[in-house]
Amino acid sequence: MTTVDNEKERAFWNGAGGETWVRAQAQLDHMLAPLLEALLAGAAPARGERVLDLGCGCGASSLAAAERGAEVVGLDFSAPMIALAEQRAKAAPALALRFICEDATKAVFPTPFDHLISRFGGMFFADPVPAYGKLRSALVPGGRMTLLVWQAPKRNPWMSVVGQAVAPFLPLPAGGAPDPRAPGPFAFADPAYVTELLEAAGWESISLSPVERPLHLANTMEEALALQSQVGPLARVLRELEDTAREAALAAAREALTPHFTAEGLVLGAACHLVEARAP
Ligand SMILES: C[S@@+](CC[C@H](N)C(=O)[O-])C[C@H]1O[C@@H](n2cnc3c(N)ncnc32)[C@H](O)[C@@H]1O
Repeated sequence: MTTVDNEKERAFWNGAGGETWVRAQAQLDHMLAPLLEALLAGAAPARGERVLDLGCGCGASSLAAAERGAEVVGLDFSAPMIALAEQRAKAAPALALRFICEDATKAVFPTPFDHLISRFGGMFFADPVPAYGKLRSALVPGGRMTLLVWQAPKRNPWMSVVGQAVAPFLPLPAGGAPDPRAPGPFAFADPAYVTELLEAAGWESISLSPVERPLHLANTMEEALALQSQVGPLARVLRELEDTAREAALAAAREALTPHFTAEGLVLGAACHLVEARAP
């Protein structure tokens, strides 16, 4: 069931999505650094703890947990992102860190983990209840889960400022407004839904706490547009619009971003939930 259902996401992260994250890895890791710190502060991985990093991508959170002394397995089904993660891990051979390129709903682990962590890698399952049930069974009894997931787009100006500016130029997706719980970055925005699905997947002691941080996106407008053209709504503008419409949408994005430049560059707010739970 789930392996087949995750095919669309698997194809995306092995194609355009994965290539983009590999290309923009340094910029994205810089932008997301305050949120990685928040994840690690919440997760507090202990020395020797066996950690599974779900949807580890290019490996930033796996490296950071291993640097704190945990024994880390980074899991992701994106071949280009795992290739970069492995390359980065080679530069730190003393760390207890390895990567697996596989669908999280399909992977089999001979030894259970103490702790499942994720920075934005847990919202892409076509069928999240069985997926989280399977991940729970990969932990020891009493094992912990600590996930960072995005709150709603309107609570994330780092994305919504440009999103709102270019929306009038983009056609509505076929079939009307998308399902907010469909696999994607904002699928876990609703705390009640996340609690309900994790309960249904057999997790206990479930809690969500808000994490809000300013993010430094770029030093110049050109850098900002280059980043937003790769991940976020501007990427759709470049993909779907041509000539005059594209120029008009880009101009609207520039105008919307301009007031948010400070002496430190472009700084916009982000809001996430830190999701914590335990395996029974
Ligand atoms: C938004 S990216 C985040 C990457 C990384 N955690 C970071 O913060 O840089 C989401 C990641 O989840 C991975 N992913 C999504 N669904 C997955 C699945 N079913 N199995 C394994 N990895 C998955 C994607 O390949 C992608 O690397």
